[in-house]
Amino acid sequence: MSRFEVTETFHGVAFPGHLHDQESLQRAVTFPFQDTDILIVSYPKSGTTWMQQMVTLISNRGDPHVSQTVPNWARAPWLEHHYSAELVQTLSRPRVMTTHLSHDMLGHTLQGSKAKVIYVSRNPKDTVVSFYHFHKMANFLPDGGSFQEFLNQFLEGTVQFGSWFDHFKGWTSQLGAMTNLLHVTYEEMSMNPHGAIKRVSSFLQCPLVEDEVNSCVRHCSFSSMKDNKMINYTLVSHDILDQSKGSFMRRGKVGDWRNMFTEEHNQQFDKVLLEKLKGCSIEFVWEEVEEKETHRETHH
Ligand code: A3P
Repeated sequence: MSRFEVTETFHGVAFPGHLHDQESLQRAVTFPFQDTDILIVSYPKSGTTWMQQMVTLISNRGDPHVSQTVPNWARAPWLEHHYSAELVQTLSRPRVMTTHLSHDMLGHTLQGSKAKVIYVSRNPKDTVVSFYHFHKMANFLPDGGSFQEFLNQFLEGTVQFGSWFDHFKGWTSQLGAMTNLLHVTYEEMSMNPHGAIKRVSSFLQCPLVEDEVNSCVRHCSFSSMKDNKMINYTLVSHDILDQSKGSFMRRGKVGDWRNMFTEEHNQQFDKVLLEKLKGCSIEFVWEEVEEKETHRETHH
């Protein structure tokens, strides 16, 4: 099943037909969650794979064996991908699953469930840059065109997987309303990996001792993940993901958008951001901050 040219439109959002069909999308939005389930939710390129690795390592108390022997899509399959239906049946509890679906689509199914939901977000300027590069290597995504063209589509919300703004607003508006929802940012994982791992492990009710946290940090690092074929997507064939055009584990930095954005792009972006996120109190971290500041909370 390649379906590279097919786009599935579901709830007004375009999804790559290579990974999705109407049946798999419908199955996802009516999925019978169990209270022990763990669901990683993200907009693409926000640190999804990183969180998959983090959750695997935390669940295994820092032991890297599973993270080095089972591909990420098998240990934390995407709920909405067509190949996941059977995979999900084989997962042992607690089941870990992943989704890029919006709260609009999934909120209803999650209502009343005690499944633990981890929402991973990344500042949208780094997200759009990462997504743009990903379009160049992913043959199941349409041609992204020039960066300006891609940026326009991202800001309009017409890219595949829909509007970043709607996704972010939809899930973060549930913070406080959903008690079983944890928000973790890419920037936190990058600047304070120990803190992020401790927060996720306590949310998952899997407290770790210091050595276990350190092992998680080690095996979650960019260099370790870049070399781990169970998480760096080199197991995927070149016709699907052509990593001769760039690596999945590309740069792994906070603030890389500065290497791509012109002053005009930035003004265009900020204008839309201001309009679309009016009333949202979440602040973004646009670049790497000095380590001593970001580790402040661990010194208390
Ligand atoms: P870049 O393209 O900016 O390098 P997703 O998994 O949601 O598709 O996100 C992919 C992005 O996360 C890529 O960003 C990738 O390099 C980055 N990433 C994955 N693992 C990482 C890690 N351990 N440390 C830093 N960045 C990581």
